[in-house]
Amino acid sequence: MVRGRSKVPVKNAEELSLMRRAGQIVAEVLYELQGQIEPGMTTRRLDEIAETIIRDMGGVPSFKGYLGYPATICASINEEVVHGIPSTRRLKEGDIVSVDVGAIWQGYQGDAALTVPVGEVEESLWSLLATTQHALEAGIAAARAGVRLGAISHAIEGAAEEAGLSVIREYGGHGIGQQMHEPPNVPNWGPPNRGVTLEAGMTFALEPMLALCGAETKVLSDHWTVVTADSCPSAHFEHTIAITKDGAEILTRRQER
Ligand code: MF3
Ligand code: CO
Repeated sequence: MVRGRSKVPVKNAEELSLMRRAGQIVAEVLYELQGQIEPGMTTRRLDEIAETIIRDMGGVPSFKGYLGYPATICASINEEVVHGIPSTRRLKEGDIVSVDVGAIWQGYQGDAALTVPVGEVEESLWSLLATTQHALEAGIAAARAGVRLGAISHAIEGAAEEAGLSVIREYGGHGIGQQMHEPPNVPNWGPPNRGVTLEAGMTFALEPMLALCGAETKVLSDHWTVVTADSCPSAHFEHTIAITKDGAEILTRRQER
């Protein structure tokens, strides 16, 4: 557990430009995967595509080997919240799948995720996806130099609450830079007047995880896959951002090239 008061690294212009590049690799992978996801596809195939794109762009997959994690992406289907391991399981019409990608460019990290509907999905799942994406956007909108970290957490929680969805509390965002996980933890819930005061050059991965029913989770026997305890669907969106004096720059938003 990283406490709010511990030192949060501030990146200089050079470091931010490397993180921008790492972010663009991640953004490109997510863009490609989102376009290719369809019923019948295995999550292992998604993983192969992701690794190929990252390496072709000169990057290194950051998840592979991290604490023994065996793949380039996490692919978490339906009641799986995060950290689903790619496999020969085939996506089917009506599923939702969270795809989480991390890449390193010259020692600096990018980390982002989105949740994609597979073919036609139920109405309630559409709103789960839309609300979770909106919660991420609300967190980003609350982020700027001079406010406390809790402002982000509070904005994310508010967006979820407004839509009647549960915030998964055991997992959250994190500082990021030369390490994928740097201080501080960024909870997706809590009061606004908590945590460090944000400064320009701090970089964070914000990643709300929301559930249609209960917020309780458990980890499967593969030691990675986090699922909701009640098996209700869950969604996950993530961006890496840099704090600026008047807002936040989204490092993992794809720039048209
Ligand atoms: N975005 C996730 C995180 O921040 C991905 C990590 S998966 C792992 O924790 F396998 F690398 F751990
Ligand atoms: Co992350």
